[in-house]
Amino acid sequence: MQALVLAGGEGTRLRPLTYTTPKPVMPLAGRPFLSFMLDWLRGHGVTGAILSCGFLSDAVREVLGDTHQGMRLHYVTEEEPLGTAGPVRLALEGGILEERLLVLNGDVLTDLDLTAQLARHAATGARATLALIEVEDVSSYGVVPTGADGRVEAFLEKSDGPASTNRINAGAYVIEREVVESMIPSGRAVSFEREVFPALVGDGLHGYEASGYWIDIGAPERYLEATYDLLSGRLKSSLPPRDETGSLIGTGCLVSGAHIGPQSVLGSHCSVGSDSTLERSVLHDRVLVGADCVIRDSVLAGGVRVGDGARIEPGAMLGSGAKVEPGAVVGLDARVAPGAVVQAGGSPA
Ligand code: GDD
Ligand code: MG
Repeated sequence: MQALVLAGGEGTRLRPLTYTTPKPVMPLAGRPFLSFMLDWLRGHGVTGAILSCGFLSDAVREVLGDTHQGMRLHYVTEEEPLGTAGPVRLALEGGILEERLLVLNGDVLTDLDLTAQLARHAATGARATLALIEVEDVSSYGVVPTGADGRVEAFLEKSDGPASTNRINAGAYVIEREVVESMIPSGRAVSFEREVFPALVGDGLHGYEASGYWIDIGAPERYLEATYDLLSGRLKSSLPPRDETGSLIGTGCLVSGAHIGPQSVLGSHCSVGSDSTLERSVLHDRVLVGADCVIRDSVLAGGVRVGDGARIEPGAMLGSGAKVEPGAVVGLDARVAPGAVVQAGGSPA
């Protein structure tokens, strides 16, 4: 089976982290995000994946390389963003698409049953089958009402107003190559959600009601939620064992005298000074935290430095190489740009 992973969005909601690291390889629980997705695909018989990249594509290739656990990785890079469907057309024109393929949004962490979805697709003779998942708040997703026979009745991308169902597009599609040939125009950006799927309603578009774990990691609170779920084992993974506080500490870290956890992740070569507290927070690689600091529910990108006695309040995200001076406070939900300096008693400079 072949899969194409859409990994070219700019990840705007995860800025400032995504200014320097593209969302597909953003460290999640200490591993590049897509490695979880590739494990999942491999478990459902995918032998080769096309990674559709745009924004910071070299970085994706550098991190993931050309194989993953024996699975071939093929990169297709677009010069200009082609939306969600345009990249599939580009792959078609490159002559690399098989008769039937899986298309995945590249920011979804899930264990939904692709094997069952593929079987349903084959049994109904659909032209495209979308995995649907139930969520409480549908407002940031594509809402997909279906009839009793599973046929999609409408595709409503991020529409306002009351929704007729809580089932949303989970970002995992089985698609016949014929649909790519006939429904996706060439040479311009095309959206599955706003153009292709609405046009396919009543013409061979089916839904598959999936269950299991599902989260889109593309927003700060969901990135942290996915981290906690992986640490607690709510989603099965091949992560190394966590310590007694449910935390993961990478290689070469120095943390003696610090209070780490619960549910924190340190990348490699981080240090946290004595009497500092780090709770439900994520440090990417080479983050240096001084003594007597307090950091809660926050994400610090690679190379961030935090001076002694500084405080980072919940919801903060600090871009790569940012510096927090001794005694400074980074406020609730703050965003600190890569390389910026937060001074004591002031705002980022
Ligand atoms: N190659 C490429 N080129 N990939 C792109 C482009 C592009 O121009 N634009 C977006 N993508 C990728 C993103 O990197 C992401 O993996 C995926 O396409 C979906 O884009 P998002 O920007 O994350 O969309 P969303 O989360 O707002 O909404 C989508 O996902 C929801 C489920 O998480 C839609 O498909 C919704 O219908 C769906 O419910
Ligand atoms: Mg998304």
